[in-house]
This record gives sequence, C-alpha cells and structure tokens, in this order.
Amino acid sequence: MTDSPRPSAGSGQRRPLDPEAKPDDRVDNALRPQNLNNLIGQNQVKENLGILIAAARGRGEALDHVLFYGPPGLGKTTLAHVVANEMGVNIKVTSGPAIERAGDLAAILTNLRAGDVLFIDEVHRLGRAVEEVLYPAMEDFALDIVIGKGPSARSIRLKLPRFTVVGATTRLALVTAPLRARFGAVYRLDYYDLAAMQAVVTRAAKLLAVHVDTSGVEEIARRARGTPRVALRLLRRVRDFAQVRADGTVTANVAKEALDLLQVDPLGLDDVDRRVLKTIIEKYNGGPVGLNTIAASISEEQDTIMDVVEPYLLQLGFLDRTPQGRVATKSAYEHLNLPYSEGQQPRLI
Ligand SMILES: Nc1ncnc2c1ncn2[C@@H]1O[C@H](COP(=O)(O)OP(=O)(O)OP(=O)(O)O)[C@@H](O)[C@H]1O
Ligand SMILES: [Mg+2]
Repeated sequence: MTDSPRPSAGSGQRRPLDPEAKPDDRVDNALRPQNLNNLIGQNQVKENLGILIAAARGRGEALDHVLFYGPPGLGKTTLAHVVANEMGVNIKVTSGPAIERAGDLAAILTNLRAGDVLFIDEVHRLGRAVEEVLYPAMEDFALDIVIGKGPSARSIRLKLPRFTVVGATTRLALVTAPLRARFGAVYRLDYYDLAAMQAVVTRAAKLLAVHVDTSGVEEIARRARGTPRVALRLLRRVRDFAQVRADGTVTANVAKEALDLLQVDPLGLDDVDRRVLKTIIEKYNGGPVGLNTIAASISEEQDTIMDVVEPYLLQLGFLDRTPQGRVATKSAYEHLNLPYSEGQQPRLI
C-alpha cells in the first residue's frame, strides 16, 4: 500500500456540487472528434470517406448515401457528424424505431435542405411501410404521397432536394437488401488496435484534464476491448478511483487496481463475457449451444450477447460460431484457467 496523501470524501475538502457538471453521455458528446483529421484509427474508412467527401465537394454535389456498420461504441454516430461537418451541411438525427409511420418520415424529408445529412441510427429497425417511402426518396429524391381513399385515391409525386442519408447499424444482416442497395458507400468499423486505443485514451485524458502517465494509458487502453466508448468509460471510473483512493494521478498500478475492482480483466473481458464463456464450458461442456439457451441461462438479453459480447469473443478467438451453436475454444479455457481436454468438443465441419 502506498502512503500517498489521500483526499478522502470526509476530509472537508469536498467540492460543492457543480451545477454545470455534465452527466457521462454529455461528456461523451463533447469528446466526439469533429472532423476526419482528429478522428483516431479506422484508417481505411477514413481514407475512403476522405475521397468520397472531397470528390462530392469538388463537384459541388450532395454526398452519396453512406452506411456505417459494426459493433457498438466504435464511432458510427461520431462519423455521421464528421461527414456533415466535412461537407459543411446540417445534420438531422433520427433512428429506425423513432420513425413509426410513413408520414413521420415524409415530414422529416420535406424539411430537409439541399445537401443536408439525414442520420438514421439503427437503420435495421425501420418499419416496412417507412422503408417503402425511403426507397424512392433515396434513389429519385421524390416523395410519393397518396391523397384520398378508395377509388378516388390518387398519388402525387413531390420533388425533394438532393440530400444524404447516413445510416448506422450494428446488424448489417438485418438491413433489407433493397435498402442496403441504395447506399452508395458501405463501411465496416473494426475494433481499434492498441496504438489507436492509447491515442483515444490520451486524447480523452487531455480533454478531461485527467493526470495519467503512459503506463496508466496503456493499462486502460489494453482493457477497453478495442472500443473507444469503453475506453472513455473506464477512464472516468479510473479517474474516480485515483481521486478517492490515490493522489489523483493515474499510474499503471492505480489503473490496474481500479479495473480489477470493476472486474474488467487484462484482456478487457467483463463479468458478462466471462459468464457467457463459463456457461458454455461448465454447463454445456464447451458447446455447441444455441444463443437463446446461453441468454436464458445467464438472464441476459439475446441482443446484448449478439451485439456486444459475441463480436469481441470471436475477435479474441475465444468463441466459434457453428451451425449447431456456439463453441468455446481452447484459448477460452486457458484464459479462464479451466482444464481442457482434447476431443472434448465434437469437431464440426
Ligand atoms: N475514432 C475515434 N476517435 C476518438 N474517439 C472516438 C472515436 N470513435 C468514437 N469515439 C468516441 O467513442 C464514443 C462512442 O462513439 P459513437 O457514439 O460514435 O459509437 P457508435 O458506433 O455510434 O455506437 P452505437 O452503435 O452504440 O451507437 C464517442 O463518445 C466518441 O467520443
Ligand atoms: Mg451511435
């Protein structure tokens, strides 16, 4: 244990509550990089997007429709705002489940100006009727409106200004084929490598005025599962720990202690990740076992497992996805210190 001075909560040094203090999500927004240049990592996406934007600007046209997909927290929303900033246009933000009726979409579309970005988050959750309105809007910049009912009904076509749809989804497979076909550019976001994660943590620490040394940055970056949102969350929690249990500076040891306490292990696995693996291994003898069975066993949402847990475990090589279900790999046993015997799992072709 260190004997560094500890400004404890009860020591009378407590600061009054700051009415301007921002909750975590507002802080996240403030930390969003605003343009391509200060966006960290995702080099391939950045380069392609840079060309797309420069070309459209050069021709003085609206940008083609763009779709971003990938696991949560990697920067899809951030990129949508970057696109609008780089194009120098307004952005209107909505999401698949928020547009309930075709009329809601029509109202949004008729309020767009030439070049504007319409950001549709969770684009895989658009309703069918809404999608039907979106297709001609994206392709022909036209809105078909039906007036009247029954035999006297007639359809009129309204012209819309040329605008850009930026879509985001964590589930590309659930985006219907016709909708997907209307995006001129589709970019996949991948987990960030360690160097990029270190840069994300360093940048955020500077903006949040957190004292953190290089080894502290590395410790947080390594445990943030290649995801900027997770890195920002861990940084805030480690900052709290440093303030309450140490002298405010985040060193490797402080970060390690804080993250161990939060049950985030050295590879970034948290409690839910470990429960998923342990269920497959201990209850189902390593698998294969269906996703719904796993979800029911640990009382978690199937969606959470599919969107958040699984992609990272697959990336680490801890999980295999087979037609019969999920299988834990040898590395998963090793990471959890569980005995693995060869031939334990049926090999599947
Ligand atoms: N390339 C980056 N460089 C620095 N910070 C980033 C980067 N990408 C994302 N972030 C930060 O990570 C946080 C999460 O990013 P964002 O909200 O864009 O993710 P998302 O992919 O839209 O997630 P979700 O699927 O949950 O909507 C943001 O607060 C942003 O500050
Ligand atoms: Mg988002």
